Amino acid sequence: MFHSARIKLTLWYLLIIMAISVLFSLIIYRVQSNEPERVLLRQRTLIERGGFLRPGFGPPELEPEILEEARRRLMLNLILINLGVLIISGGAAYFLAGRTLEPIEEALEDQKRFVADASHELRTPLTTMKTGLEVNLRGKALGQEAKKILESNLEEVDKLGYLSDKLLHLSRYEQKEGLSFTSISLKEALEEAIEKHTALAKSKKIEIVRNLEEVTIQGDFAALAEAFGTMLDNAVKYSPKESKVNVDLQSKDGKAAVIIQDFGVGIKASEIPHIFARFYRADTSRTKEKIAGFGLGLSIAKAAIEKHHGKIEVVSTPGASSTFTVTLPTA
Ligand SMILES: Nc1ncnc2c1ncn2[C@@H]1O[C@H](COP(=O)(O)OP(=O)(O)O)[C@@H](O)[C@H]1O
Ligand SMILES: [Mg+2]
Repeated sequence: MFHSARIKLTLWYLLIIMAISVLFSLIIYRVQSNEPERVLLRQRTLIERGGFLRPGFGPPELEPEILEEARRRLMLNLILINLGVLIISGGAAYFLAGRTLEPIEEALEDQKRFVADASHELRTPLTTMKTGLEVNLRGKALGQEAKKILESNLEEVDKLGYLSDKLLHLSRYEQKEGLSFTSISLKEALEEAIEKHTALAKSKKIEIVRNLEEVTIQGDFAALAEAFGTMLDNAVKYSPKESKVNVDLQSKDGKAAVIIQDFGVGIKASEIPHIFARFYRADTSRTKEKIAGFGLGLSIAKAAIEKHHGKIEVVSTPGASSTFTVTLPTA
């Protein structure tokens, strides 16, 4: 992100410098190309006034070729100077653009680190609360009313724990050094994601049909498994009971493609550009109220996939199906 911003800023700086340089060159050319004629005229008047004319010779004339050559040379010099300005200011502009963006980049990294630290700090108290609630819930002396309240509290604590985990992952994947790359099997990452969601799929009698090739890439296993898990989770969550989810993994021409297709509520075309934004939840259906989630899953998945120089795309027909495709370079 910052690299393309740096290039853009460099081009803007260059554009301004070159516009000024070319403008001045044009002015210099206009003024200087008439200079030989002016000098000659002045010389003539001097000679005529002083009566220095040698017998048989008229006042000096300017040869058109000499004048042309002088103009050509002037033009060439100006072009060379402009080329020099272009090269030197190109380097300087790139350097300055880097210096300009540095504090902004640092501030952004700082902010991400803050979110990561804050969510990390939230974990301990949340775990303590969760344990406390669970222990209390097991107590026999609890009244029906108190039990209900504790159960509801436990649910909220779980949600908060999930949220702080997700925020931690999001900020980590968006940071410069957030992932550790090794040689991993995409098939295994997908299988792990599928394992984690079989219980949910079973509860809705949804069949997960897999068709997985063996593909190895350089990547972060946990981050990719989480991204695939998010897509699977959505596929199952936003599908009706007794439907099907297809999971495909193929590799071709140095690229691996993970395709997750469901036959659920689908996503409206107008909402597709937003579903990868943080905290965005499409107004998919009336059942949405009942479907848990914070709208963070896809933004985290996207951040992780982009860190692998891959991309995530979606094609959907509302009311019929959604197909998410992740493309990752295998080389
Ligand atoms: N397979 C899908 N079918 C229908 N809608 C989907 C699907 N996947 C994602 N969406 C839409 O995109 C939104 C964002 O997804 P996500 O970031 O995973 O958040 P969450 O699942 O927590 O709502 C969801 O709220 C949902 O509206
Ligand atoms: Mg989700």
